[in-house]
Amino acid sequence: MKNILCIGAGYVGGPTMAIIALKCPTYKVNVVDINADRIAAWNSDELPIYEPGLQELVEKTRGRNLFFTTDIVQGIKEADIIFVSVNTPTKTFGRGAGRAADLQYWEKTARQIKQHANKDLIVVEKSTLPVRTAAAMERILHSGENERHFEVLSNPEFLAEGTAVNDLKKPDRVLIGGRNNELGQAAVKELVKIYAHWVKRDKILTANTWSSELSKLVANAFLAQRVSSINSISAICEATEANISEVSRAVGMDSRIGPKFLNSSVGFGGSCFKKDILNLVYLCERFSLPEVAAYWEQVVLMNEWQQERFVDKIIKIMFNTVAGKKIALFGFAFKADTGDTRESPAIKISRQLLDEQVELRITDPRALQQAAIDLQEFGDKVTYETDPYAAAKNCHALAIMTEWECYKDLDWQRLYDSMEKPAFIFDGRNILDHEKLYEYGFNVYPIGKPGMSRLV
Ligand code: NAD
Ligand code: UGA
Repeated sequence: MKNILCIGAGYVGGPTMAIIALKCPTYKVNVVDINADRIAAWNSDELPIYEPGLQELVEKTRGRNLFFTTDIVQGIKEADIIFVSVNTPTKTFGRGAGRAADLQYWEKTARQIKQHANKDLIVVEKSTLPVRTAAAMERILHSGENERHFEVLSNPEFLAEGTAVNDLKKPDRVLIGGRNNELGQAAVKELVKIYAHWVKRDKILTANTWSSELSKLVANAFLAQRVSSINSISAICEATEANISEVSRAVGMDSRIGPKFLNSSVGFGGSCFKKDILNLVYLCERFSLPEVAAYWEQVVLMNEWQQERFVDKIIKIMFNTVAGKKIALFGFAFKADTGDTRESPAIKISRQLLDEQVELRITDPRALQQAAIDLQEFGDKVTYETDPYAAAKNCHALAIMTEWECYKDLDWQRLYDSMEKPAFIFDGRNILDHEKLYEYGFNVYPIGKPGMSRLV
């Protein structure tokens, strides 16, 4: 039996290793983390992350060939292959602050591997990293006195939260980058062998290490660029009475463009889009490519502007003053089917509304606890309600922040009846039936579509 170790039991490490354990019963998979609470949660009935289908998946393999522990040293000693899936956030200090990736967690794991490994090893970059990080990793691993050989591969992860289990079971592609020499290609082969247990061979791409590292940043940049592109057009729609859904449909039916990722919204969130684009921008600046850097940075700037635009619209429509008014935000997670709020547009929008002295109510099926942490500095200016009806009661306005399916089925007449009049609804995800809402009495303001106002 071969031993796999994954360092980092987060949104990527946990689900990815659970799938490998399920599909490769002859491998023993250890997942380790420095965060003991997180490991305890992985060993409990309440996993540290919410992801549809994940609980069942973990229950099938945990204790069989999937183990969660905090014993990193023992894990390294046993391992034949080590995946590193630690966080790589944007640097908040020193050179490159606000742009470059903070690689301190990453480097720490490299040093730990070097210190405790007792045989030759394959080390796999699972985290998203700047191009040429594998070279730095190899240098650290082979520095000083060392008779072990470490082959570093790049194997970026493309799963999206909320659909992680399905994305892992049926990936569009698996990408493996390695060095173009005998040892590099032998390591690539070992990793291909693991994925080939459930992924068709023609979907397992191999590449040189730098192409693999760069492709991950570029894939996220392209996805985010589509969201910013459609959001930029939503502003033109609002100015011209064109309808963003009709435009998205017409544009997306061109098979060269395709229909996915063209939903206009309050902006993209999530832990990675902004961080990875800024990482790309930083690389461009470092390689003296200012035009390329400016091009990609605009994707992030457009996203920030879309959120500000949403708040400006709320204020303008509510008679240019929201101070002392009650507004309920429906949804706080950065997208549906996750409890993750990292970089959620709801955070920035909440802060801006609170600065305007709004009394904020927040409801979300999965992210309420985290919302309270994200907004803790505002104390009792924010109330958190599990029940959307309680959140809406006596409010002057509602704003949809997350596209949770359950919001479509609410009794909107009941919600309208319980609110202050005139009642406003701002649908930041365009998920509701706007004509119906207007019939119930609401003043309705979608994104990128003409508003429906009852005010004269
Ligand atoms: P996360 O913060 O959820 O998990 C990272 C974990 O690593 C944490 O639990 C942390 O305690 C642990 N850790 C940090 N340093 C450690 C150390 N020295 N030893 C042991 N454990 C350590 O992050 P995530 O969302 O899983 O992302 C991990 C990487 O994967 C990032 O580079 C991210 O860009 C990339 N990625 C994330 C997603 C996603 O959907 N979240 C998708 C694709 C790629
Ligand atoms: C994204 C990518 O889709 C994954 O392939 C990648 O692995 C991951 O980032 C990562 O590297 O972390 P994720 O952030 O989990 O996954 O979720 P997405 O479905 O990409 O959504 C990102 C944001 O864009 C969300 O806030 C979502 O609401 C928003 N979005 C998405 C829109 O506003 N409109 C769309 O049409 C699509």
